[in-house]
Parts: sequence; C-alpha cells; structure tokens
Amino acid sequence: MIMPIIVAPDPEIASRHAASLIRRAIAQKPNASLLLPTGSTPEILYKLLTDKVAGGYLTFAHAQTYNLDEYLDLPQQHAQSYYTFMWKHLFDKIDIKKSNVHIPSSQPKNHQAYCQKYEKKIQKAGIDLAVLGLGQNGHIGFNEPGTSFDSTTHIANLTTSTTKANARFFSSSAEVPHQAITVGLATIMRAKKIILLAFGANKAGVIQKAFEEPPTTEVPASILQNHKDITVILDQESAARLRKTKLYPPVLSGIKLYSRFNLPRGKKIVFFSPHPDDASICSGALLKSLSKNNKVYEIIATTGHRAANHGRGKQQRIKLRETEARQEAKILGTKPIFLRSKFYDNGDELPETDMKKARDLMKKINPDIAFVPNKSDPHPTHAMTRKLALAALPHDISLWSFESPWGPFGHHRFNAVFEFSNSLMSAKLAAIRAHASQTERTPFDEAAHSIAHFRRITIAEQLFSELGQEPLATQPHLELYQITKW
Ligand code: F6R
Repeated sequence: MIMPIIVAPDPEIASRHAASLIRRAIAQKPNASLLLPTGSTPEILYKLLTDKVAGGYLTFAHAQTYNLDEYLDLPQQHAQSYYTFMWKHLFDKIDIKKSNVHIPSSQPKNHQAYCQKYEKKIQKAGIDLAVLGLGQNGHIGFNEPGTSFDSTTHIANLTTSTTKANARFFSSSAEVPHQAITVGLATIMRAKKIILLAFGANKAGVIQKAFEEPPTTEVPASILQNHKDITVILDQESAARLRKTKLYPPVLSGIKLYSRFNLPRGKKIVFFSPHPDDASICSGALLKSLSKNNKVYEIIATTGHRAANHGRGKQQRIKLRETEARQEAKILGTKPIFLRSKFYDNGDELPETDMKKARDLMKKINPDIAFVPNKSDPHPTHAMTRKLALAALPHDISLWSFESPWGPFGHHRFNAVFEFSNSLMSAKLAAIRAHASQTERTPFDEAAHSIAHFRRITIAEQLFSELGQEPLATQPHLELYQITKW
C-alpha cells in the first residue's frame, strides 16, 4: 500500500505536528488511552507537550498512558530505565494522575503471567492513539526483526544492532540490557490511530524499506502499512530515500514557523533600522532571542532627529535619539551602529557617501543574515534604507525583510513567522518604550502589541497543516518575515 507521509523541514516542526495530533486526540476524548515510546525521537515532542500543559492548552488530567516497552532486569530507578525516562521527560511535568501511568515492570516475578496481565490491561483500556519511534533495524517497541505479526506483549531478546544503538546511553557496553518486555505487533496494530516518528539520516534506509516495500517480519514496522489510520512524520533526512510515496509538508501555506527552539545560532546578523526605534517596533522579540546565540548589529540608518520634539537644536535631538537607541540596544542585547545617513536631510537621492559608509561597514562585519525593511513598506525613509542596505550587502546571504506598522505584509507576502511569549513581548515593549521621545508622540508600543496579537489570530489559520489539523503555533504573539536569498 502506498501511504501519505508528512515530511517536515526539521525534527522540531515534525514534533510540533505530532504534538498537535496528540492535543487533538485528547481534546476529542479527554480520557483517551495513549501508547507511548521512549528514546531520543520523542524528546522534543514531550517537551512540546509539557509546554502545552504549562500554557493551559492541554491537560492529561483524565488521560491514561501505557508504555510500549521496558528493559528487563534494570532496576526501576536506574538512570536508563524507561520508567526514569518517562517521569523525567514527561510525567513529572504534566498533570497526569500517577495511577493513570502504566509502564511495564522491569523486574516481574513471573515473566509469562506478567506479560499476559499487561496485555489484558491494554486491551481493556483500548488504545486510542499509539505514538511510535523506529529502530534502525525496523523495530517498533522492542519487536525485533523476525517477530511474528501476531505477537502480543512478550519478552524480547534484543538484537546486536539494537544493543549497539542503545549503548550510547550506558557507561559501558556490558551494562546494556539484552532483554526487554515489549507490547507486541498485534497489540500496536489494535490502536485506533498510530503516529510514527523517525528523524535523521540513519533512519532513511529503514523508512524506505518499511513503507515502500512489501510487509515482512524482517522489517517489523512494515506491518504498519496495513493500518487504516497511521500518520508517519519524518524530517528531511529520514525521508531522503523515499521514491514512490506521496509526501506532504506539515504546513499547507509553506510558512516556516520559528520559535526560540529553532533559531539560527553562531551567525553575524545585521539589522538595518531606518529610524532608531524601528528595530524594536518591528523585530524587538526576534532580535532579543537572536542576540542570545548570535552577534547582532543594529545598523541605525538615520538620526531620526525630525521626529524628536524635545531638545533645542538638531544636534541635541540627535543626541537624545541616540541615547534612547543605546538604552534599547541594552535591552535587546544588540550592538548599535549609527550611520547618520545624509539622505535623511537631503531628500530623495542616495548619496555615494552614504553607500560607501554602509558598504565599508558590511565589508568589516561580513554578515551571514541581514534584516531590511520589506519591499512594499511605503514609508520613504524605510524604502530608502532598504535601497541603501541592498546596495551595501554582500550576496549569498539570507535576507529577512521585516514587517512594520507602516507596511503590513499582504497575503502570501511573508514566508516565516516568529512566535513568542508574553514575557518576550514585555521585553519588546520595554525596548520600544526606551524611545520615550517617540512613544509620547505616538503609542508605538501599543501598535506593536496589537499587530503581534492580530497576526497571531489571523495567521494561525494559515498555519493549519495540510491534513486539516490545528495551528502549529502555540505562543500568543507573532512577528512576520519574508526570507529570501540575496
Ligand atoms: C522505545 C521504543 C523503540 C524506539 C527505537 C528508536 O520505547 O519503542 O522502538 O522508538 O529504538 O529509538 P530512538 O528514538 O532513540 O532512535
């Protein structure tokens, strides 16, 4: 059978999609029973679920969970037991009742009887949603190659490839358990809905075998082709060898969702701010987040002295605006550089001296990423700053055009959004308010707050996944960008 498979740009977006499906299942049935995996694959997913619970978007108060597997003969409290993993990554951080958590015992007295008991418990609950990872040898749970498609909960002997793969979690290979208790393939197939997650290049081969070749017990996951309601969610790397399958993106609109988890790191970034306060108004939240792991320069194109009411002469007004800009930059963690471009006083022409200054600066900084006003921003100083920036920037860099309250993006004119929290919004507002000479004239803080909230409400609709799920964004505010190669 050829099945639709969702391919996300990275594990973060893939996990968001999975989190969204889980949230949906629990919204539809608050007392849903979930079958859950451990391993590296679900770590981001569990973090997203705990964030959703903390944000009040999701509750596990009535949900039941069952784990797929557990190592045999590893004490429950061992750092590598699946019991420890699950409590550390999920259960300790969500509102689930302890009595609703079921993890196979690692030290049952009578193996046979215990397996039957665990299987019965699962069948009685009826699994609404099973979430699976995938072993490099095709195992799901600990159903290793050769396991019967009819298998129920049993003791599995782990193959060398699995013990090798798991050795990374133990201090010595002698410590790696060779047996596990696992639910069976038939147990998994009885789940009403299944989500399988697999990330990374080392899963590409087995993904191709499991979903593009006829089912065989040699690749246990291939049985999933026979399930009526399965969603396979991959990243680019694990999907790389698929040839016959129709692949779906997780986001219909092609909008890339950035959050604090997947921002660029270790880059040199320049932000061309037409006036001293535009950086904070348009991109205060993103700049503050970026400045944590990147070097961010705020290139302030003009003095903006015309818009300052205080200060007697022009020089005093320039000084006032630059002092405010420095205070703002402290809040955002950026380094301000003042170009004091002549075009601001001289009219429509972009003097060669302005361009030379900007070009020399760009040569010195040699940025990887540049932020510029967007193409359709009608404010003359913003349009001129874009022109100046494009004349000065080197090619082959990533160009992020930002939205401003003067030039809101039209439909399909942006391809990236940055979602952010209330506390980041507070920092953004503080940065805007550092420009007191401006906010006392026009409440730009209110404008920035309103536009971020407005965007969150309206754009959420466009962040629906192709298969009609809920929006992928979870934070209350958005800033918008159009990212292109320059
Ligand atoms: C663990 C489980 C396993 C893992 C698989 C992939 O509960 O069910 O099937 O999903 O071994 O492990 P990672 O995610 O670490 O690559």
